Parts: sequence; structure tokens; C-alpha cells
Amino acid sequence: MDVDFDKESGIGPSDPKGKLTAEEKALLGDIQGNILKSHGRDHSRHLFITFDTTKAKEAKAWLAQLSKTKVTSALKQWDDSRVRAEIFEKSKKEEDPEAYLSVELPKKPSGIFINVMLSAKGYDALGLSGKKPTDGIFGGGAAGAVSRLSDPPRKDWEAPFKAELHALVIIADDDPGKVAAEAKAITDSLKGGKVVNTEIGRALRRGKNGPVHEHFGFVDGVSDPLFFAKDIPKSSKQWNPGAPLKLALAKDPGGHAKTGYGSFLVYRKLEQNVDQFNQDRHELAKVLAKEDNRTEPNHADRELAGAYLVGRFPDGFPVSEKATPDGADREIPNNFNFSTDTDGLKCPFQAHIRKTNPRGDTTKLGGTLKQERTHRISRRAISYEQKGKVGLLFLCVQSNIEHQFEFMQSAWANAPEFVQPKPPTGLDPVVGQGKVVKQQWPAKYGSDKKVPLSLKQSVHMKGGEYFFMPSMGFLKGVE
Ligand code: HEM
Repeated sequence: MDVDFDKESGIGPSDPKGKLTAEEKALLGDIQGNILKSHGRDHSRHLFITFDTTKAKEAKAWLAQLSKTKVTSALKQWDDSRVRAEIFEKSKKEEDPEAYLSVELPKKPSGIFINVMLSAKGYDALGLSGKKPTDGIFGGGAAGAVSRLSDPPRKDWEAPFKAELHALVIIADDDPGKVAAEAKAITDSLKGGKVVNTEIGRALRRGKNGPVHEHFGFVDGVSDPLFFAKDIPKSSKQWNPGAPLKLALAKDPGGHAKTGYGSFLVYRKLEQNVDQFNQDRHELAKVLAKEDNRTEPNHADRELAGAYLVGRFPDGFPVSEKATPDGADREIPNNFNFSTDTDGLKCPFQAHIRKTNPRGDTTKLGGTLKQERTHRISRRAISYEQKGKVGLLFLCVQSNIEHQFEFMQSAWANAPEFVQPKPPTGLDPVVGQGKVVKQQWPAKYGSDKKVPLSLKQSVHMKGGEYFFMPSMGFLKGVE
């Protein structure tokens, strides 16, 4: 039986010890890892390549060789996770004190992980235009999206993103030394092209094995679509994170008729101005204090102000569920929706997570939850620090860039009137771009009085590109 691309209950066994079907194995063996599930490593390097069109033959031979020897398939990612799960189980059974001490470690992915992908111009440069995915806006790349997304003009992007970028290789591991060595080996092996830019990513963790957070200090990666049955929680009544394969996988025109699928990857370098964000947060905290007849904001005001901006407290707890982290039910970081906060009195409509995943808010505009869920993206981002600047190398995968990332950025994050036209709720205070209107904030948690306050933009796009992550079969056979 073919793998079902429509079902939301996930593929693979629901029992973590169960087995994949032969069809699932064939599919996972033909698609790259990091699409259906994040690779989870803490360090990565992103090598951007420009091919020499006069040496396309050499470049293609290099690409095929890289794919045969190094690129990680989804099946390899699955098998590695099983090995880790077994070590973890064994260490628990034997009560091995050493394994017990490092109890989280065997569960965490490790070992070099590699992805490779091509931009539309990359397909053309290699003479592979006939194998290029025909998605409407892929051809125009990130440069073609500037006006649709209210991005800064390309002339203001960082220099390396003004070049014509043809391919991207992602190298990841928990050991930064290994990542650097592998990046060098791949760069040295490259034929028919040049590495024109390298971005270095590093996950920020609270403690050695603590959760990952981004530079504003909020836990990240809490909510993402889940594609494997074993990962989908049984009790997810308020919000079902399960997702069908068709949310992430698109047919690879150059791939195998049955198993050849890939995914579109949006790459954006997003600089975070932490001082600006903290200032915004302070301005909002001052308003909250004033509404409570106090002159100076206290810790709770600052916590609540930050949670209003993001939609979650720094530890990931959703602001719509409790006023303060104290005494909150910490077990439900993702099993919630906004049905008990339909007027945005606890979580403002413009809060980052409410703009980017309205969890049913759009049904009041006449759509269905089912439709709304088709706009979801799978985030694969990692933080960076470079010459005193910090930010997020924002990566997300999807089956259709226009319907998913671009829709989310332009029709939700950037739209001041989204969900509530009067008074307009304003831009997403984290990633919204475009026409600034005053945002509306609950004067007190849960009260129906709202106060207007306009915040500055603290995230700035510095460049990016659109890529397609082709199937393993296509890559290995490329000539
Ligand atoms: C969630 C930060 C850029 C889409 C989150 C969360 C944080 C965060 C802290 C909450 C944790 C979680 O639910 O995983 C940031 C920062 C960004 C950024 C600092 C830029 C520097 C973007 C962009 C988009 C986006 C550009 C897409 C347009 C999402 C989505 C979620 C999310 C879909 C999950 C919402 C949910 O399912 O509840 N982000 N983000 N983010 N972000 Fe961002």
C-alpha cells in the first residue's frame, strides 16, 4: 500500500519500538533528512555555492558524489534515532550509573548531518532547468519576494546575499570542530564552483542539555508540525500538532516516479536587535504599570510584556493560559488554542505565535481550521553571532512557499488588520514588516480595556534565498 500523504496522524509506527512499512522505508530512503524532523544538532555551517556555468559537468559530478557519500537521508536519520532510543532504554534497564548521569545524552541526535539543495538559478546554472520544480514563485527566488514581503531592498542586504547563489550545503554536528573540519573537506572537494559565503549557526541552550532559546531569551522550537506517529502526543485535544506529509513534501520533477519527493526551503538571515527588543518590552511594561497606578514597572510587568510580544513566557509557557508563570500547568506548552481568549485579552492578536499560528482564529473570517492548518511551516532555524551582531538563521521547509511561508509573513505577520480590522491589532512585534500602526495591548491581563502603543522593529532581514531540497535519487544520479 502506498504511503498516505493526507493523513494527520503521522507515518511510521505509533509504538516507538515498532517498525516502518516497506513503503515508508522506500520513501524515507529517497528523501533528505531534516525535512520531516529537525536534525537537532547544536552546531552548523551553511555553505553557499555559486557554480561556474562553463564547468557544469564537473559541478554535477561533485554533487552526485557528495550525495552518494555524505548527504543524510530521512531513513538514516530514523535509524540513528532508533539506535539512540535503544541505548537509552538499555542504560535505564541496567541502571548503569554513568549512563544514568548522562541520561539525556543518548536521546540527543549526534554525528555529522548533511543536507544539500539548489536554488532555481542553481538548476539553470547546471543545465538542469527541465528538472526544476515548477512552483510559481520559486523561480524568482528571495529577491523576487521583496515587495510581497515588505523586505528591505536587495541593495541593502549583506554583500554575500547579493551574489547569485546556486546551492546550499548544511553541515551539522554537536561538535563545532567536526563541523568546521567537514566544511573544509567539502569545500576542498568542490569542483566547478566556489563557496561564496559561510554562515555559522550555534544553538543557545539553558544549561548543557536544557531547552534551546533564541537571542531575545525565549525558548524556541516548542511548536512545529509533527510528521511521525510516534512523536504525536495522544492527548492533544486543544491543538493537534500532527501534520500530513503533503505539508512538507513536494514532488521532485527529477526524482523517482513513486518515491521522489523534496521540500522547498526558505532561508532568511534575520538580525535581532536585542537592545531594541528590551526597550520595547520596557515601554510596554511601563504602560502596564501605569494602568495599575504604579510609576515603575516591576518584574511581573516585564514578564507579561515580553509574553505579550511573543505569546509565550521565556520558558515557553503560553500567555493565553495563565497570567504569570507561577502555579501554571507546565505540562501544556503546545496543547492549547485561543478559544477561551477570542477577544485577545490574554494573548494579543499580534503576539508572534498568534500571528504565525492562529490556532483557529481565522475561522471567524469564514475559513475552516483545516484550511488554516495548510499554511503551517516546519522551522529548522539556528541562532548566530557574527562580529558583535546576533540573530537567527531562519530556515523553514514546506511543500509550497507561496501558500506557506510567504502567506504567513505577508497575510498574517505583516497585516495590521489581520483577524481584527477595528481597531487594527498591528504588526507581529517580532517579525512583522511594513506599514506601522499602533498595536493594541490588554491594559491588564484578561481585561477588555486595550491600550495602543507602537513598537519599533527589532528583527531585520539581511538576505536570503529560496532552495529546493531534491530527492536522494535525483541527487545521486545527477549528470
Ligand atoms: C514560534 C522567535 C522568526 C514563525 C516562535 C517562538 C519564538 C520565536 C520564541 C515560540 C516558541 C515556539 O513555539 O517554538 C522568533 C524569532 C524570530 C522568528 C526571534 C526572528 C529572529 C519567525 C519567522 C516566522 C516564524 C520569520 C515565519 C514568518 C513561527 C512559527 C512559530 C514560531 C510558525 C510557532 C507558532 C505556534 O505554532 O504556536 N518564534 N521567530 N518565526 N515562529 Fe518565530
